Amino acid sequence: MTSRDHPTESPSREEEVGWVRVDEARTLDDESAVHRDIGGHGVCVARSLGKVHAIRDECTHGQVPLSEGDVENGYVECWMHGSRFDLATGIPTGPPATEPVAIYPVRINGDHIEVRLPVSED
Ligand code: FES
Repeated sequence: MTSRDHPTESPSREEEVGWVRVDEARTLDDESAVHRDIGGHGVCVARSLGKVHAIRDECTHGQVPLSEGDVENGYVECWMHGSRFDLATGIPTGPPATEPVAIYPVRINGDHIEVRLPVSED
């Protein structure tokens, strides 16, 4: 029997491209965040209300790391001026930040957190 006999057993290349293993899931406490440098992208990996999120680790107002802010109830608060960003959508709840922060798909694969980064068109 060859792999051609069951072509749907493995995920397609398109489904797997861009996923990067980040951390063991158990190491990220609830209501916390960490900075990870993944392929040149600064990523804030956060867990809140039991759910893991990944967003760009840079406030859209003042370019400071959001991973250094407080995480609570699905939001991360920028430590510099206090804008709060929805971890699921990246949208700020109020000024001074007005632009959303980029969000990245994230999943738990076995014991690990994996983040999917944009694939370069090069
Ligand atoms: S630097 Fe984040 S709200 Fe101003």
